[in-house]
Amino acid sequence: MGLVGKSLIVCLALVLGVAIPGWVGPVIAEEASVASRTLQPKLPTAKGDKCVADTDVMRRNHMNFLKHQRDDTVRDGVRTKQFSLKQCLTCHAVNGPDAKPVTADNPDHFCRVCHDYAAVRIDCFDCHASRPEAAAKSGRSLKRPLEMALTDYLKGVSQ
Ligand code: HEC
Ligand code: HEC
Ligand code: HEC
Repeated sequence: MGLVGKSLIVCLALVLGVAIPGWVGPVIAEEASVASRTLQPKLPTAKGDKCVADTDVMRRNHMNFLKHQRDDTVRDGVRTKQFSLKQCLTCHAVNGPDAKPVTADNPDHFCRVCHDYAAVRIDCFDCHASRPEAAAKSGRSLKRPLEMALTDYLKGVSQ
């Protein structure tokens, strides 16, 4: 149910509560409206005890860290560990019913839980593996040989 739907119900409850003297409706309605204001996506728990930067900072700035890291890597061949995509996926892996980490095709994937909620789309997993083993196997974070990944990516872009 969307926020509008929820607000409508909250309003209705308020009206009803006010109309029936002594009914606890208004209290319930108030709780409901607090809940809808703080509605958050439910994030899967990560491994390890802390992130590569403060959780708060990560929540707001991870995209900048990742992009910065990418530019450094691709242009200058710098490979620092702190904001490596492979590391993110290792700690933030989410297991599916088969006890294996899910890929970004699955809505439970760590990066998707928030992005779906916030309607953000990223193209990173067109080229990069979205779960840790695949990355480990190839020794780098790319799904396929770079040439194939780039060709597919450009095909997508020119459509
Ligand atoms: C067209 C293919 C392509 C796309 C799309 C792409 N990358 Fe990359 N990325 C690469 C290549 C190639 C490298 C260099 C890999 C290497 O040298 O190991 C790289 C390296 C990186 C690195 C440093 C290596 C690592 O694993 O930490 C990060 C971080 C990164 N990319 C993040 C991103 C993010 C975030 C996005 C989405 C916004 C993205 N990339 C989209 C091709 C791509
Ligand atoms: C050593 C393990 C580890 C690594 C590596 C790691 N994280 Fe985290 N991350 C955590 C933990 C622990 C938290 C705290 C939240 C939790 O307990 O689930 C967290 C929190 C976050 C949050 C905020 C979630 C929230 O509650 O709002 C984001 C966003 C995030 N990480 C993204 C990333 C990205 C992007 C990378 C790679 C650049 C990364 N993390 C690398 C362990 C890790
Ligand atoms: C706590 C919620 C949350 C989590 C978890 C999260 N993201 Fe994000 N991400 C966002 C939000 C919100 C935005 C949009 C920010 C904006 O537009 O200002 C965003 C934007 C991005 C962008 C920039 C997109 C663009 O169009 O410029 C990249 C790249 C990105 N996230 C990568 C990742 C990756 C990779 C992961 C998983 C390792 C991840 N995010 C996990 C909330 C999250």
